[in-house]
Amino acid sequence: TRAWRGLIEEYRDRLPVTTATPVVTLLEGGTPLVPANRVSALTGCEVYLKVEGLNPTGSFKDRGMTMAISKAVEDGAKAVICASTGNTSASAAAYAVRAGLTCAVLVPRGKIAMGKLAQALVHGARLLQVEGSFDDCLEMTRKLSENYPIALVNSVNPFRLQGQKTAAFEIVDALGDAPDIHCIPVGNAGNISAYWMGYTEYAGDGVATRTPRMFGFQASGAAPIVNGAPVTHPHTIATAIRIGNPASWQLAEAARDESGGVIQSVTDRQIAAAYKLLAQEEGVFVELASAASVAGLLQAHAQGLVEPGQRIVCTVTGNGLKDPDWAISGAPTPVTIPIDAHAAATALELA
Ligand code: F0G
Repeated sequence: TRAWRGLIEEYRDRLPVTTATPVVTLLEGGTPLVPANRVSALTGCEVYLKVEGLNPTGSFKDRGMTMAISKAVEDGAKAVICASTGNTSASAAAYAVRAGLTCAVLVPRGKIAMGKLAQALVHGARLLQVEGSFDDCLEMTRKLSENYPIALVNSVNPFRLQGQKTAAFEIVDALGDAPDIHCIPVGNAGNISAYWMGYTEYAGDGVATRTPRMFGFQASGAAPIVNGAPVTHPHTIATAIRIGNPASWQLAEAARDESGGVIQSVTDRQIAAAYKLLAQEEGVFVELASAASVAGLLQAHAQGLVEPGQRIVCTVTGNGLKDPDWAISGAPTPVTIPIDAHAAATALELA
């Protein structure tokens, strides 16, 4: 075997790049597909986690960003802008550094996890905290990119979805065919749309014999697609998917309908329980939004939507280290002891 070269080189013939495209990469993609033993036992299925938190900036956004930034450089851009619930801004900031571009990001004030804020700042992005929602931020960035020489790298940029579709390729390459069901969190709805593009492309070219049913999950306080109407004041503990009017709404519905899938909502309580289960029973530390895929699978299983023995992939979209505040707030306070092995033994109930 040889070293992973980043997803543009690995899937060059399936991406809209030419030899003239300057490839801006941090060697993203090639993430592990980890068997989820506990979730498999709970559902009677063969469940895998596509661990996207192991990308260079800790989320799946790097797949889209390597494409969006490479194409922006090819087009002669000097600056890029995005709206973000945190991960897109972290990724854009890092890839902009790599490309020598200026990066501006608009985030909803007080509604992004600390690690993500740290990433945008440490990579030197021009970060503005908007007194509004992600949806407000996205509308502002659309206007700014129309009126000023600054390229938009949100998932409304078609190169983003092209990069993100490679996750579906990797899954088929690893399993030998598409799974029966693919579970995924839905926020701005770009990722579910990108996976569906990837799966249908592989099936269309005979690389896979079939496509999976796409199961998308929104947080119940931010579930516009489930409700059939935009949500003006979205709320959820899963801040990454706190979105009331997703940009790729129609594409996500098409993915659901063409694949024979569902888009459902899960409560914050279900999300928190799945987060804990992944950390404490699978050994996989994800962020809250990512746990929506597993919360959703457990719900769909309880509803009888999942036949036993099915092969299922859950995308876990971001790394748990992004949000240390949440992790710590739910954990017991550590015990402090003097420099004394006996005190340690007592505290650990060994003695
Ligand atoms: N999971 C995580 C960790 C995310 O950061 C996002 C989106 C999603 C799931 C949902 O993906 O938007 O393609 O449906 N985060 C965006 C951001 C909105 O700004 O980082 P989606």
